[in-house]
Amino acid sequence: MADLSPSEILLSRDQIQKRIAEMAQDIRRDFPDDLHLIAVLKGAFIFLSDLVRHMDGQVSLDFMAVSSYAKATVSSGEVRLLKDLDTTLEGRNVVIVEDIVDTGLTLTYLQDILRARNPKSLRTACLLSKPSRRKVDVKIEYIGFTIEDRFVVGYGLDYAEQYRSLPHIAVLGT
Ligand code: IMP
Ligand code: MG
Repeated sequence: MADLSPSEILLSRDQIQKRIAEMAQDIRRDFPDDLHLIAVLKGAFIFLSDLVRHMDGQVSLDFMAVSSYAKATVSSGEVRLLKDLDTTLEGRNVVIVEDIVDTGLTLTYLQDILRARNPKSLRTACLLSKPSRRKVDVKIEYIGFTIEDRFVVGYGLDYAEQYRSLPHIAVLGT
């Protein structure tokens, strides 16, 4: 079992749902026709599922998996592709859907490999951003919430594979 557990609630279920509805509208407004969302497993799976259900019209989905930190709460900076996409991105309006951007290393890696596949456009939506932790300057067009440098769990985010199922975002503490 994990030696740390969720302490205070940082973002409630209602706050998250309200913000995601706004983000879905923003993305749909920018791409009213063709739209292809790529979620980064595992953390973004709940965010993606709520995001698409707040969105009108047609949207296609795909998933990618990259290596995570295992049990550590700090980034090693090493990114490895564990699961690739099922379809081509050629000519599509692609939005990467990420749970959280911390150092920015994972997202930079993803943007680089996806851009090389010639999408018509490539943007990023993340639920959470910790700008004070950035090691690389990475562009994010849609940000749900900007948070301080604290390790958070819930709403898809884990610590040692636990707490992903929480409906809110909580700070991990002792
Ligand atoms: P980055 O490459 O340092 O930006 O890290 C991005 C990935 O680290 C995220 O997609 C998460 O999987 C994980 N991560 C970063 N911060 C947190 C956190 O506070 N809680 C849970 N996972 C995190
Ligand atoms: Mg992630």
